[in-house]
Amino acid sequence: MLGSKFLPALWSIGFSLCATASATCPVADVSIIAHTGESVGTEVVHNNGKPNLSQTAKDRRREVVLIPSSVTLYTTGNPSDKAVLYLTDIFGIQLLENRLLADSFGRAGYFVVAPDLFNGTPATVDLVDMTPVQREVFLAAATPEDTDALIATGLDYLQNVKKISRIATTGYCFGGRFAFRWLAEGTGVSVGFAAHPSNLQNEEIVAITNPVAIAHADNDSANPAARQAEINALLLKNTTQPYTVSLYGGNSHGFGVRANISDPRQKFGKEQAFFQAVRFFDTWV
Ligand SMILES: *[C@@H]1O[C@H](CO)[C@@H](O)[C@H](O)[C@H]1NC(C)=O
Ligand SMILES: *[C@@H]1O[C@H](CO)[C@@H](O)[C@H](O)[C@H]1NC(C)=O
Ligand SMILES: *[C@@H]1O[C@H](CO)[C@@H](O)[C@H](O)[C@H]1NC(C)=O
Ligand SMILES: *[C@@H]1O[C@H](CO)[C@@H](O)[C@H](O)[C@H]1NC(C)=O
Repeated sequence: MLGSKFLPALWSIGFSLCATASATCPVADVSIIAHTGESVGTEVVHNNGKPNLSQTAKDRRREVVLIPSSVTLYTTGNPSDKAVLYLTDIFGIQLLENRLLADSFGRAGYFVVAPDLFNGTPATVDLVDMTPVQREVFLAAATPEDTDALIATGLDYLQNVKKISRIATTGYCFGGRFAFRWLAEGTGVSVGFAAHPSNLQNEEIVAITNPVAIAHADNDSANPAARQAEINALLLKNTTQPYTVSLYGGNSHGFGVRANISDPRQKFGKEQAFFQAVRFFDTWV
């Protein structure tokens, strides 16, 4: 009953913000996000002048040298004074949906760089669908240090080739953890967003000093409700920078990139998570 009493007031606020019908209200315009079609960006190969990146891997006696001195970057968006460093899920920049979402950040006014986090060999099945052994092997081949080195090359391209200093980072699943890692002090990244991060560590959360936004799914075995509550509590109690947290019902792990757009709840979740990131970046970058 209380609700109906307040309804006329809400209507009048609504009409004062959006002069005509709701269809013309800017918040209802989701046209800059593309779910299908062809990607519009280009790949560039960048070497950040550190020829010993692969040496790092060799030093740890790994059989495969994963970190080349040159890294492939998917780049998209018009020239801009602000950028998004896009950190993919395990399907990498090879996945069309990752490219399309990067393009969408481009249409939101950002120059976008997405480093090839798996050096040409991304996963073919999702982490949550791998056997424990498969998961262990995949993650052992993409250690935080190696991945940080690849991300650093993307950042170097933004800062030293494109001369952009206002940099946001967005990360999905695997990449979500790294969005947090790059919000620690002194990295050069000023704001971040993570959707359904996996393997995010407590010390990586409490180390952030820059604003973060996070999107959780209610059905996420890689980041289940109990873990989400811990992450939220650490942001609330152990950090002091701006943050925001959203929980999307009717969504599963991966929804920020690979939602089933025929399902209205997933379509809403993916689009809203994208605009959650864009508005957060626009505010804090
Ligand atoms: C890589 O090169 C830098 C600068 O030349 C040097 O300080 C560092 O020790 C080298 N790292 C490895 C693992 O070789
Ligand atoms: C978070 O803060 C609490 C209370 O100060 C502390 O006991 C806990 O160790 C902190 N957690 C981390 C991961 O630093
Ligand atoms: C939850 O997610 C899994 C895959 O991650 C999917 O197989 C299952 O159908 C989802 N359940 C619901 C209720 O959406
Ligand atoms: C996508 O969602 C639609 C509508 O809920 C459903 O009919 C379809 O089976 C789903 N597709 C997949 C691949 O899950």
